[in-house]
Amino acid sequence: MEQYVIKGNRPLVGEVDIAGAKNAALAIIAAAVMADETVTVDNLPDVRDVNVLLNAIKEAGAIVDRVDRHTVRINGSTLNDLVVDNEYIKKIRASYYLVGALLGKYKNVEVSLPGGCNIGSRPVDQHLKGFRALGAVAEIAHGRICARADRLTASHIYMDVVTVGATINVMMAASMAEGKTIIENAAKEPHVVDVANFLNSMGANIKGAGTDVIRIKGVERFHKTEYSVIPDQIEAGTFMMAAAVTKGDITINNVIPKHLESISAKLIEIGCKVVEGDDSLRVVATDRLRNTNIKTLPYPGFPTDMQPQMGVTLALADGTSVITESIFENRFRYVDELIKMGATIKVEGSVAIIDGVRSLSGAEICAPDLRAGAALVLAALSADGYSTVDDIVYIQRGYEDFHLKLRKLGGQIDIVSSDAEIQKFKLKTG
Ligand code: EPZ
Repeated sequence: MEQYVIKGNRPLVGEVDIAGAKNAALAIIAAAVMADETVTVDNLPDVRDVNVLLNAIKEAGAIVDRVDRHTVRINGSTLNDLVVDNEYIKKIRASYYLVGALLGKYKNVEVSLPGGCNIGSRPVDQHLKGFRALGAVAEIAHGRICARADRLTASHIYMDVVTVGATINVMMAASMAEGKTIIENAAKEPHVVDVANFLNSMGANIKGAGTDVIRIKGVERFHKTEYSVIPDQIEAGTFMMAAAVTKGDITINNVIPKHLESISAKLIEIGCKVVEGDDSLRVVATDRLRNTNIKTLPYPGFPTDMQPQMGVTLALADGTSVITESIFENRFRYVDELIKMGATIKVEGSVAIIDGVRSLSGAEICAPDLRAGAALVLAALSADGYSTVDDIVYIQRGYEDFHLKLRKLGGQIDIVSSDAEIQKFKLKTG
């Protein structure tokens, strides 16, 4: 089993280029099959979840032509299997986007219930609510989400909770329903806007994405398009925190600074310097960080996907900090691993109380899920001594060339799969 081996306590300094947004790319790949012409998507991140979904739509009969690691041409006209339950589809959460896409296009679809990180219960009731409002019979049966309709007709849909997945999924189905659909209490994340822009580039008629009211006038068919995915807000935020925890100086290129405002604000609050460029951010952290409090919220609030990385940063800050995780019920799984490294954190329900320590010490730790895993790599890069991180496949789901980008910044990190390789790394870096 591959592991990261890391020698910490070295400031990360230099420049890093951010890849395309995983959570936009996944929805866009699903939406691409709604056209019967060739759709070219570039700036895709070369990460496991994207490659799994591309395999899933290929297995279902779509033409998938990988131009290069970041560009793909997709033609959904040959898609011939409306029961999508191949081995790939159960591995990722975003597989459920094929329900909205294929219900919109074919009015009939069955997709295996999604997999994804174990950060909470991950219900799909709001997805089903939206599909039913559009006139579909939508239910869970035989471990699949099943949806079919004679015709989809517009509706006025109120989301009971702010949900990225259901907002995107219902928006996709509604984009080919008859009439004008309104989605209220919609998610406003940058990737929701990116998916709406992508659908519009194929001929959809969607207005208001990025606000909490999205208006969709259904169309009959989509045409070809060429589209570039936005930069990944969470990958960028993760490297911003890497500067903070290693007292480094990192310039993060190919970002949209507006998408990172809540993260920049918090880093400034705890004592970092953040310099904004047109499409870059520079984060400098030298002195001891100060404590603060965080509550995760839907965009534009502090993102839940940045909560573990902030938890590691505050574990090294001076004073007591409180993190409230308001989106998912199981998103503190990194805390036990961090405690092995000397952190002082107490979790009570959805709240973590963190008493900052001056430094962490290297240890043998495990990645519990995607973002917690990335956060623990940051902890190891700041810690005194050596660490190994197990289950890095979680991290590779959402970060392209993570260890290579960290190494380019001066991080001492390698991928190993044996004790002998760990020893070799220790000799090389000792
Ligand atoms: C997306 O998950 C992202 N995943 C997650 O990122 C991200 O954490 C999350 O949005 C919130 O931003 C992808 O885009 C593939 P939600 P999603 O529906 O769509 C509740 C990562 O690290 N809810 O916005 O599953 C749900 O329980 C991943 O990249 C319902 O109650 O999240 C949660 O409390 C992890 N009913 C809240 O809404 C529903 O039908 C937000 O979930 C759907 C959701």
